[in-house]
Amino acid sequence: MKNIKLLAPSILSADFSNLSQQIRYVELGGADIIHCDVMDGRFVPNLTFGPLIINAIKKVTNLPIDAHLMVENPENMIDNFIEAGVNYLTVHQEATVHLHRTINYIKSKGVKAGVSINPATPVNMLKEILEDVDLVLIMSVNPGFGGQKFIPGSIRKIKELSEMREAMGYNFLIEVDGGITKENIKEISEAGCNVFVVGWSIFGNDNKTAVTTEFKNLLLQN
Ligand code: DX5
Ligand code: ZN
Repeated sequence: MKNIKLLAPSILSADFSNLSQQIRYVELGGADIIHCDVMDGRFVPNLTFGPLIINAIKKVTNLPIDAHLMVENPENMIDNFIEAGVNYLTVHQEATVHLHRTINYIKSKGVKAGVSINPATPVNMLKEILEDVDLVLIMSVNPGFGGQKFIPGSIRKIKELSEMREAMGYNFLIEVDGGITKENIKEISEAGCNVFVVGWSIFGNDNKTAVTTEFKNLLLQN
């Protein structure tokens, strides 16, 4: 598990007036997954997009789509995202009371199910759900906006989760989201991360294809 290293550009910082072109740029650079940040203006202080846009993205790429739901009561809208064609669907531990039901419902529809925790939520809050999930997303910034600074304590959380995975013999992927740069990606990788979400450090660049390839090469070296 530890050796899987996938790059997931987050379109949050992309030019939405030209989304299909922006996705093409990162595809050409070697992106593995397209990360889509769904925000409801309640769970996080920002609003983005929903299943309509995800379905439009699905039509212009063959890459897997990873939807990160930063919404309250995600169980109410899961079917809409599944119908839109997502491959991974991640909900926040803090956003639903019935996490076990929600995760197992997603899996019953043939979609990979993920759970995410905010920076202030300890890893051990996930203990009882780890055997059910396909992916755990550690937020390394407070969710809501792209381009924020990586919170250093996240490294400890990634290591702790990676150790729990090993000790318990589970196979979920560890995804890290927020503030990843060319400078800190090696340390994050060594801590046990498998899926690296990168927003601003890719889409904030003029040459999105070249910088995507640079990130991919950094992961290959690890
Ligand atoms: C933050 C989002 C992230 C964000 C990461 O709420 O979940 O996916 O877009 O972007 P950067 O890499 O800019 O921190
Ligand atoms: Zn995200």
